[in-house]
Amino acid sequence: MLMKTELLKPDKETLVKASNILKQGGLVAFPTETVYGLGANALDKDAVLEIFKAKNRPADNPLIVHIWSRDQLPSICEIPPEACSLMDAFWPGPLTLLFPKKESIPSVVTAGLDTVAVRMPSHPVAQQLLKECSLPVAAPSANTSGRPSPTEASHVLEDMNGRIPLILDGGSCDVGVESTVLDICHGLPCILRPGGITREMLENALNGPVSLAASILRPLQPGEKALSPGMRYRHYAPRGTVTLVEGSEQNVVAALKKLYLADTTAGKKSCVMCFTEHLDILRDCRPRDLGSCHDPAQTAHRLFNTLRSLDDDGMETVYSESVSLEGIGLAVMNRLGRAASFRILEADRLLGI
Ligand code: TXA
Ligand code: MG
Repeated sequence: MLMKTELLKPDKETLVKASNILKQGGLVAFPTETVYGLGANALDKDAVLEIFKAKNRPADNPLIVHIWSRDQLPSICEIPPEACSLMDAFWPGPLTLLFPKKESIPSVVTAGLDTVAVRMPSHPVAQQLLKECSLPVAAPSANTSGRPSPTEASHVLEDMNGRIPLILDGGSCDVGVESTVLDICHGLPCILRPGGITREMLENALNGPVSLAASILRPLQPGEKALSPGMRYRHYAPRGTVTLVEGSEQNVVAALKKLYLADTTAGKKSCVMCFTEHLDILRDCRPRDLGSCHDPAQTAHRLFNTLRSLDDDGMETVYSESVSLEGIGLAVMNRLGRAASFRILEADRLLGI
């Protein structure tokens, strides 16, 4: 049964309306500094189940709980001492921490795990909403499961129209990729999902090493257990087939041209994703601009918008440059790799060099 979905600017009156919807067990989509979230009262099992329905999300993929004040923590989780320096350094902001969960959090939120993922967003609209309703709010990214996360209110409307009553329009999200998910509950801190807060930043704050989950840059192997259940699924993928190309700058550009030409000659609708610096040389290959190769934050900011636009234009095959793994580049390559189901070609080999 479809409902009317309102898309509203978050003025005071609208925030009160949004907060009332949450208190009554309904869903509200709201902007954060990373991507748009689809929120429900984290303490209300039935409300949380509605999130899974609206997104068509597998029940074994746990949600992140959003708070605006650290005072909310003791009622939902235990607080390991290592968490304090991380919260001091990065909250509010794009860092999600795993904590041992308390009874108040229903097991649907954590998909039966004994840890709960918590984050304090820095976006003013997210903060105002969380404060207004004074509830912990469970919120995954506000996309249909499997699609690229929404970084504009219009993306949320594309996926959620008729499924939720209200979307708060806070414009375009700054960071553009989701928060870093860090496990501090099982020994050496481990990044389960790279994001806006980089490994380098975490190691600095902790004054010690941080490890990376193995599945960040490759698919899960048969039988391998996903540390973060979300890593199991095909994700961020447009309907067309995405392939990444690696190698030296010059060879990657030549390989992209060759791949585009071969597909176009075979009658497929194809395009390339490349850095701003290569737009001109690839102008005959329907280039999509990934931002400057010297500015990975810009690539992160526009990544999901670019992936979504491929569907709007009905692309069947897409060939993309790869991004350096430094800093937020790791988060970008994690999303691109998954969008491409880790299909990665070496430019040299393709060119027969
Ligand atoms: O930036 C973000 O984190 C956005 C905004 C809305 O806050 N939210 C977001 O949520 O990306 P979602 O549900 O799309 O991704 C949550 C990720 C999934 O990969 C999930 O498996 C993992 O966090 N996760 C949640 N709880 C977990 C837990 N207890 N243990 C391990 N992984 C967990
Ligand atoms: Mg998501």
